Amino acid sequence: MKAIVYRSYGGPEKLELTDIAQPSPGPGQLLIKVHSSSVNPIDWKLQSGAYRWVRPVRFPATPGFDVAGEVAAVGAGVDDFAVGLRVHARIAEGEGRGLAEYAVAGTDVSAPIPTGMDFGQAAGLPLAGMTALQGLRNECRMPLDGAKGRLLIVGASGGVGHLALQIGKAAGAHTVGVCSTRNVDFVRGLGADAVIQYDRPNPYSDIEPFDIIYNCVSGDPGPWLPLLKKGGSYASCMPSAMTFVRSMANPLSSKRVRAVMLKPSGADLRILNRLFEAGKLRVAIDSRFPLAETRKAWERSQAGRAVGKILVDVVSAS
Ligand SMILES: NC(=O)c1ccc[n+]([C@@H]2O[C@H](COP(=O)([O-])OP(=O)(O)OC[C@H]3O[C@@H](n4cnc5c(N)ncnc54)[C@H](OP(=O)(O)O)[C@@H]3O)[C@@H](O)[C@H]2O)c1
Repeated sequence: MKAIVYRSYGGPEKLELTDIAQPSPGPGQLLIKVHSSSVNPIDWKLQSGAYRWVRPVRFPATPGFDVAGEVAAVGAGVDDFAVGLRVHARIAEGEGRGLAEYAVAGTDVSAPIPTGMDFGQAAGLPLAGMTALQGLRNECRMPLDGAKGRLLIVGASGGVGHLALQIGKAAGAHTVGVCSTRNVDFVRGLGADAVIQYDRPNPYSDIEPFDIIYNCVSGDPGPWLPLLKKGGSYASCMPSAMTFVRSMANPLSSKRVRAVMLKPSGADLRILNRLFEAGKLRVAIDSRFPLAETRKAWERSQAGRAVGKILVDVVSAS
């Protein structure tokens, strides 16, 4: 089967489209005929070698954690996903192996794609959506129904941020999105009650404090804590050393600080799908590339300017 492979650490120039053996589903796993995948910053961070001491890559590697497609075969013990079912997943293992014609994912990290969601949106949702959901619900303790108070999403135009903003809005929070001037209309279109333009002078002067701040761009809580109410929560999915230090060293502080570390979960994917079905969540597509042009998708993600999700289509016109 066709797949993207890299054989050493480096940049997009190391990505090759080549033939590799088709995987087989093990017990509790699905073999998915992939229609679309998405690129997340973790893909190129792993490939760059930045995490080689904590999370080394095993070469040759096929990247890609998000997949959307159809069940082509099921492993032993799988009785709740039938061949032919449209599914999406956040692959849990290694470097993912989603940028390929076929991929294997556990049923525990997979969910049926809801009616009306195309393969592109379905591929853009798992990793970013679960990071958004888990950050708000688990780390910031935001109820998914009946949330009250003010929620600030930093990086509201990005892959994680644009989903976090919609989840917060659906929960009932007063949502404020931080974005650049060129993305104001996009973030308002997601349902933001207000927008802060980070590229304007003194963007945070005269701002009422927040109950929750979810930082999807950077980690250091320092500059944000003055904007947080007592009893409020700050979380970052891009945690710095200071995020971890503050989260552990100061458990009695009136301002909670947490690092968000995604745990793939089919149950959470189903929660996101229900929000989609209720018309409260959509995946915005920044750009999409055919598998053969994965390098361009990499470069687009590395530029850090994506508005929504960057997709890679394995099957054209999905
Ligand atoms: N911990 C975890 O488990 C986990 C999971 C998922 C993602 N992450 C990390 O979370 C980060 C975000 O991921 P992502 O997929 O959302 O990235 P992304 O889509 O590439 O984010 C790009 C967006 O960030 C915005 N942005 C850049 N600088 C900003 C600033 N100073 N203030 C506000 N917005 C700014 C950009 O808007 P402009 O172009 O307008 O600046 C752009 O829309 C990445 O570092 C990723 O590795 C961690």
